[in-house]
Amino acid sequence: MRKQTVIMGIVAALVVAVSGSWSVRAQDPEATAPAAAPTEYRSIDALRRGAPLQEEPPAAPMARVLDGERRRERDWPEMPPTIPHSIDGYQVTRNANRCMVCHSRAGAERFMAPMVSVTHFMDRDSQVLAQVSPRRYFCTQCHVVQTDARVLVENDFLDVDTVIDRAREP
Ligand code: HEC
Ligand code: HEC
Repeated sequence: MRKQTVIMGIVAALVVAVSGSWSVRAQDPEATAPAAAPTEYRSIDALRRGAPLQEEPPAAPMARVLDGERRRERDWPEMPPTIPHSIDGYQVTRNANRCMVCHSRAGAERFMAPMVSVTHFMDRDSQVLAQVSPRRYFCTQCHVVQTDARVLVENDFLDVDTVIDRAREP
C-alpha cells in the first residue's frame, strides 16, 4: 500500500515536471516566435534557373545557332548527329522536305552533304524502301541544330571508349 503511494507520487511528480518543462518551452520567446518565412518552393526544372515557382523570372536569352560549325562527335553510335548548319526557313511538310534537297541520295553529291544513312530508308520490319521511310521523314524530330546553349543539368556521361580505357587500366 505504501509502496504504491510512493510510486504514484513519483509518477505525479514526473508528470508535473514534464508538463512544467512544456509550459516553459511554450513561453520561450524563440518557440512562440512566428515560424520562419514559409519554405521557398524551388522548381527542379533547370529552365527556371532556381527562381521560386510563385515568381516569373525574365526569359533566358535564346541560344545562338552555330551556323557552319564543325560536325560534332557522336556520343554513341546510334546517336542522331547534331546539325552543323542553320535550318532557318527550311520547311518539312507533307509536300516538301527541304532537308532532302541536299541529304537525299541524288542531292548529296551536288551539295557535298552526307546522304541520310540506310536506316532512314528502313520500315519497322527493317525492309529497305525506295524512299525515306515515313518514320524518318520529319528530320528535326531527332536531329537538333548545334547551338551555344549551356548545359542545363550537369551529368557525368562517359562515352564507351573512355569506359573501356578505364576498365583496362591496371
Ligand atoms: C543546302 C543544303 C542542305 C540543306 C537544305 C540541309 N543540309 Fe544538312 N548538311 C549539309 C551539308 C553540306 C552538311 C555537311 C556539313 C559539314 O560537313 O560540315 C550537312 C550536315 C548535316 C548533318 C550532320 C551529319 C553528320 O554526320 O554529322 C545533319 C544531321 C544534317 N545536315 C541535317 C539536316 C537537316 C535535318 C536538314 C533540314 C532541316 C538539313 N540538314 C538541311 C547541307 C544541307
Ligand atoms: C527517328 C529519328 C530520326 C529521324 C526522323 C531522322 N534521322 Fe537522321 N539519323 C538518325 C540516327 C539515329 C542517325 C545515326 C544512326 C543512323 O545512321 O541510323 C542518323 C543519321 C543521319 C545522318 C548521318 C548519316 C551518316 O551516314 O553519317 C544524316 C545526314 C541524317 N541522319 C539526316 C537526316 C535527315 C535529312 C532526316 C529527315 C529526312 C533525318 N535524318 C531523319 C535518326 C533520325
